[in-house]
Amino acid sequence: MHHLIPVKKGRLISLPALGFGTYQMGGQLQRNPDNDDARDIAGIRAAIAAGLCHLDTAEVYAGGHCEELVAQGIADVPRDSVVLTSKVYPNHLRHDDVLAACRNSLRRLRVDYLDLYLIHGPNPGIPLAETMGALDELVQRGQVRAVGVSNFDVPLLKEAQRHSRSGVATNQIHYSLVARAYEDNGTLDYCRDQGILVTAYRPIGKHGELSRPGQQLLDDIAGRYGKTPAQVAVNWVLQKENVIALVKTSDPAHLAENLGALGWQLSEEDRASLDRDFPRGTTINVPGVT
Ligand SMILES: NC(=O)c1ccc[n+]([C@@H]2O[C@H](COP(=O)([O-])OP(=O)(O)OC[C@H]3O[C@@H](n4cnc5c(N)ncnc54)[C@H](OP(=O)(O)O)[C@@H]3O)[C@@H](O)[C@H]2O)c1
Repeated sequence: MHHLIPVKKGRLISLPALGFGTYQMGGQLQRNPDNDDARDIAGIRAAIAAGLCHLDTAEVYAGGHCEELVAQGIADVPRDSVVLTSKVYPNHLRHDDVLAACRNSLRRLRVDYLDLYLIHGPNPGIPLAETMGALDELVQRGQVRAVGVSNFDVPLLKEAQRHSRSGVATNQIHYSLVARAYEDNGTLDYCRDQGILVTAYRPIGKHGELSRPGQQLLDDIAGRYGKTPAQVAVNWVLQKENVIALVKTSDPAHLAENLGALGWQLSEEDRASLDRDFPRGTTINVPGVT
């Protein structure tokens, strides 16, 4: 069944509220030769068929092989029917490395432009001015439509904005009921005020832990709405004004469940109760420089 996914508007880009993640497809940071690639490709195709047209990947996923799987997943649909995000890893943030990394991502994805290209995480050893300049060049060349960052806090965001002609369209961060660090440190509010879309990753926890029963408040609310804990967890993230979420799954049942996070609303009261009373984690994921 094809779902119409609502769109969220930022100042520089509009994106579907729910996007499709691809981390762990093809392997983790290295290609896994035993991975069931056919299952992952089928997972990407099923997501697109269901209406999830924004696909998120990165050069570092499965050592580049994840992008090759995405290429196969999108091979039969028109390029402009999908929104492609990829990311340049923190060890490739020098000017020439950014240009080369983008060229390699485009080759693996078999496309001639990316809708969004993000700095995957900060690298204090490389001036942001140099990286943002390279990203502007990619926009000028038409290889990238919009530029963003990932795992950036407010000081880093301000620096990135200062050095960018294209501007920062999105900040992709670890955000969920159990990962509230970017709420606590003001990043969410800053992004909202600046019209930067926040792309929340791991909305149901790193290993889907928010999908499992046993967390009383989530179970109670899910029960009252006739939804699952995962659907409530994703819905809570999406009800934040400027936030979209990414979910990854290669499992058709999980895909259907995740789509069921859309199309209904938590009451003001239940949102406030989750905001206030759910055990707040302070974990924050920042990918390392290799
Ligand atoms: N920028 C960054 O630094 C960064 C970091 C992490 C992630 N990301 C991006 O964000 C995407 C989403 O994050 P994520 O993959 O870490 O987390 P996620 O999508 O919240 O969760 C993925 C895990 O949960 C499982 N899962 C998915 N739906 C489920 C459901 N309804 N019930 C139970 N389990 C479920 C998946 O396994 P199955 O396949 O078996 O369903 C997978 O193991 C990534 O794929 C990646 O594109 C970016």
